[in-house]
Amino acid sequence: MKSTAIAYANIALVKYWGKRDEQLILPYNSSISMTLDELYTTTTVEFSRSYNQYSISINGIETTGVEAEKIIKHLELLKSVSDSYQLAKVVSESNFPKKAGLASSASGFAALTLAASKALGLTLSEKDLSIFARRGSGSASRSIHGGFVKWNKGEKPDGSDSFAVQIAESKHWSDLSMLVTVVSPKEKKVSSRTGMKQTVKTSQLYKAWLETINVDLKNVEKAILEKNFPLLGSTLENNALKMHSTMHTTNPPIIYWEAGSLIIMKEVISLREEGVECYFTMDAGPQVKILCLEKDISKISERINRTGAAQDWFVCRPGERARIIEKHLF
Ligand code: PMV
Repeated sequence: MKSTAIAYANIALVKYWGKRDEQLILPYNSSISMTLDELYTTTTVEFSRSYNQYSISINGIETTGVEAEKIIKHLELLKSVSDSYQLAKVVSESNFPKKAGLASSASGFAALTLAASKALGLTLSEKDLSIFARRGSGSASRSIHGGFVKWNKGEKPDGSDSFAVQIAESKHWSDLSMLVTVVSPKEKKVSSRTGMKQTVKTSQLYKAWLETINVDLKNVEKAILEKNFPLLGSTLENNALKMHSTMHTTNPPIIYWEAGSLIIMKEVISLREEGVECYFTMDAGPQVKILCLEKDISKISERINRTGAAQDWFVCRPGERARIIEKHLF
């Protein structure tokens, strides 16, 4: 059977960084994200008796090696709860650079999970979709949902209570915007998987990260529900800087920032000093994401443009949940 799904990337407002179980992808801390309407992945999966091997194409390129292995492992995991023995063809396209700290694995594994489960004839609940997506990439557990999402870390060793739930739908705060800058579209050298493992093992600041995370989670959830922009922005920025401090103090150090990242971060701080309310966050890559309100987008974009530090950018609002669509990619 053939099925196609679309899933939107999400950017964490309170980050997930560090796994307590590498195999099942179980995090040490809960996280909260916003799903983005302008960054998405579309994936078609077809299981058929006529295929004698898996074939995977991402953004028009036949995928092999570690990346293909991860995807096949994910398809096999979903197959283990179905009665299918068939192999599959997968074609996936994203409208933004992958492996560059722009959450392509989140939208990618959410779309793959939804399309493959449907193609296998499975009807999974939102909870199970989130759990399966998590097994591909932790942040993908959140891209199953739209709007504002919390991935509860869970306590159980089997991961059955580690899944994402929606806190508020996209229209709850529709003028909240995120300007996603592309400082460099190059694929990162250290994957988030390797990066977080090294951090947990060697950063002396990781303990402090875990000690302060619950306050951040509480503040961000409250800020979303009450639409308190200064509380949301200040907590988000501080949370991202804390995560990057744990990365910087890892042995060997992990520095995802480029010179352009710093230029944009400083521009955000200057804009704020001038009374334009905006805050930055960053993930495992050099791209800076600026949280602001719709009314300030043109002013902020103009200023970022003037720095010359961003090659490109996407203006995003809260996006929708992952869904099945009729238009197949092959
Ligand atoms: O799910 P992964 O392995 O791509 O890790 C995501 C890690 C961060 O983007 C840095 C934080 C997050 O919560 O998305």
